[in-house]
Amino acid sequence: MEKSLMTELVHLGDRNPPSVSRSKTLPITLTSVFSFDDVETLDKVYAGEEEGYVYTRMNNPVYDALKEIMYNIDGGEDAQAYSSGMAAITMSILSQVRAGDHIIAANVLYGGSHQFFKTELKRFNIEVTFVDPLQDRLEQYFKTNTKLVYIETISNPLMEVLDIPKIAQIAHDHNAKVIVDNTFATAVICQPLKLGADIVVYSATKYLCGHSDITAGIVVSDKETMRQISSTGVLYGPTMSPFDGWLLVRSLRTLELRVIQHSNNALKLAKYLENHPKVKTVYYPGLKSSPHHITAKKIFRGDYYGGMLSIDLVDGEKGAYGLIRELETIKLVPSLAGVSTAISYPAKTSHRAFSEEELERAGISKGLLRISVGLENIGDLISEFERTLQKI
Ligand SMILES: Cc1ncc(COP(=O)(O)O)c(C=O)c1O
Repeated sequence: MEKSLMTELVHLGDRNPPSVSRSKTLPITLTSVFSFDDVETLDKVYAGEEEGYVYTRMNNPVYDALKEIMYNIDGGEDAQAYSSGMAAITMSILSQVRAGDHIIAANVLYGGSHQFFKTELKRFNIEVTFVDPLQDRLEQYFKTNTKLVYIETISNPLMEVLDIPKIAQIAHDHNAKVIVDNTFATAVICQPLKLGADIVVYSATKYLCGHSDITAGIVVSDKETMRQISSTGVLYGPTMSPFDGWLLVRSLRTLELRVIQHSNNALKLAKYLENHPKVKTVYYPGLKSSPHHITAKKIFRGDYYGGMLSIDLVDGEKGAYGLIRELETIKLVPSLAGVSTAISYPAKTSHRAFSEEELERAGISKGLLRISVGLENIGDLISEFERTLQKI
């Protein structure tokens, strides 16, 4: 029967083509919803009795591919993908606490996480104690209602490395779970779940993606914890776009290659900057002089320490502003982990929500610059720093 143009336009081509061959790569399932032949099948998929998808806020084949990669490389049992690192962090935390609970968090954290702990959780009557896990005796901060300990593998921006097995042991002795933000390290450098952590969160916007073109987050944990996190996430709805998920799967194929090259470059640049008279301090756990080198050697998987380093300039704020202005190819970028080297000024970017006292207490000075070391030829990179440091 002949159909109208309008009917043909909305129906034609809207099917999975019959084929004995398959796409070599993962197809992007760019759909918000899935169709069914009958109510019985729909009901079975909802109930988990049949494999299938219902609605992309709940799941999508692209997320399943991402989850499979992520829980395997991180040594977990299940994973979840979100629209940002902050979504991964907030969904993990909110799924584990209720009003009246208490959380212990490291005092040096990504600014957004710090802000969430400080202001947002207060609205839910959840108390947060910020501690310095390097100096303080952690045991003294636990209360009967402490549910979580929250730390970063390599802290932003001072590149401190915490003893995850020790912290996990103390937390578990007090019936608390440990969440580790593994964004700076990735599973290539460290696998916190294998060291005793309970939940690993990522800003996948950074190394997991690695090309500065998507915003995404990932959580990995055991099956039961992931069930709790997923239930919370479905209700808050920070859903990742399947297209971004597909790009992330593509990016993960080269994660190890990229992180190794970032790390090798960062170590060489750190060694060069450490000996420069205009640089007061280099913060990089790969340096033998770093107070975190021994812990890093203990908990990192190989001789790689990541692509992130920070420097404190002798000339403080004036030197920092001057260096940023004079660099040629290295841009001021308030993010990290892209293919090209980028520089950031934490006091005015990632940590701008910190008060003056908080910055001082955390050791984030006005002369501190954070460098995300890229994949360039290391000789070119060192020459650019050499020329620019000479100018300022
Ligand atoms: C260590 C760390 N965790 C989490 C986040 C938040 O991730 P997103 O910007 O993807 O929400 C960032 C962002 O810079 C970060 O550096």
